[in-house]
Amino acid sequence: MSAAEHEPFMRRAIALALRAWGDTHPDPMGGCVLVEDGEVTAEGFHERAGAPHAERVAIASLMRNPRPGAALYVTMEPCSSPGSTGACTDAIIAAGLRRVVVGTSDPNPAHAGRGLGVLRAAGVEVTTGVLESECRDLNLIFNHWITRGGPLLAGKLAATLDGRIATRGGESKWITGLAARADVHRWRRLFPAIAVGAGTVMADNPSLTARVEGAPVVGPVRFVFDGRLRSVDERNMPRVYTDEFVARTIVVTTEHGGQGYVRKLRERGVGVWVFPSGTGRVPLALFRARCAEEGICGVLFEGGAQLLSRALIERQLDYLLMYHAPVIFADERAKSVLSGLRADHLSQAIRLEDTRHHTLGDDSLVRGRIAYPQKVQIDETLFSLG
Ligand SMILES: NC(=O)c1ccc[n+]([C@@H]2O[C@H](COP(=O)([O-])OP(=O)(O)OC[C@H]3O[C@@H](n4cnc5c(N)ncnc54)[C@H](OP(=O)(O)O)[C@@H]3O)[C@@H](O)[C@H]2O)c1
Repeated sequence: MSAAEHEPFMRRAIALALRAWGDTHPDPMGGCVLVEDGEVTAEGFHERAGAPHAERVAIASLMRNPRPGAALYVTMEPCSSPGSTGACTDAIIAAGLRRVVVGTSDPNPAHAGRGLGVLRAAGVEVTTGVLESECRDLNLIFNHWITRGGPLLAGKLAATLDGRIATRGGESKWITGLAARADVHRWRRLFPAIAVGAGTVMADNPSLTARVEGAPVVGPVRFVFDGRLRSVDERNMPRVYTDEFVARTIVVTTEHGGQGYVRKLRERGVGVWVFPSGTGRVPLALFRARCAEEGICGVLFEGGAQLLSRALIERQLDYLLMYHAPVIFADERAKSVLSGLRADHLSQAIRLEDTRHHTLGDDSLVRGRIAYPQKVQIDETLFSLG
């Protein structure tokens, strides 16, 4: 069979995997279809961490032995270690399957290729790399977590074509249209945590929940970066400190925050992470390490400009989602997106790799992994390091 003939089946497996969008952390999403005589006769996906893997679900749902010549399509290399649900390679071999088509290998260096080897050694014909890039993209967060041992820190920004996030008067609602805003909620639903700066909490009073049409509202962990606890105002408490998801809010602060405010937040059920810092700003490397300790595998930084700029300057942003609306202010006093670095040469530019481009109504989304240049210069005149 040619690669093109495999693709519709792998696309179906990807669609199945996506049903568990945001539900499998810290496990990857995975989907699987069983094909007999050119038809899908069984399907499965990994529903949540600890649940059976997609391969086992599909094989079990067939409720009989696969017919000779049947092929199993799976988005990620089947696991070969027993784990809590048993090795999928064992289930495949025990079912008598002789053909397996795989999207992407296991990104875990300790496991990569092992499952494929086990299957081949058992005489199974294995085809790899079908829709590989799409299959790998399914698990942005898992791939990073398993290879780096820490969370994927991603930034999201919505800007005009000339890179502004608000007018000089501070108006920013809404630069992008409905489709782009709905897409942001999908990403919020994927990430186990969202982060914003105190400026955004005070300016917008956001709820930071994932509101995907047709699905229940989900409250991810909500981080508020507020080095001096400026956002704690008893007379006018931001929504994230009072709403039904209050126990999911964690304020990220420093010793400059004041014990009284810390106590007030904790009394309300808000979590507070206090970090040492001479500047009143939390070094993002320390935040990353704490997330790793707490098992938080991905954080979506939603702004504002200051927090995202800091994350970029400190080289702590791993991924960027950049929405653009077909709007131009051409006003140098309108709020710009990212600042604080100096690029005299193109070689000093930060670039996105492995990019993906999406059209959302009139708007667009470019997303990709951030590649930092060898050397960057920080422009002290543009950005106070505090
Ligand atoms: N278009 C978009 O995509 C988008 C997204 C979000 C927000 N926005 C807009 O952006 C505006 C707010 O942006 P902004 O740049 O003023 O505010 P911001 O980045 O949300 O918040 C800045 C404040 O957060 C605190 N902070 C930042 N980094 C920190 C760190 N590492 N540790 C501890 N605290 C830290 C600082 O408080 P201290 O100064 O007290 O230390 C800082 O002043 C709003 O108007 C909002 O509507 C736009």
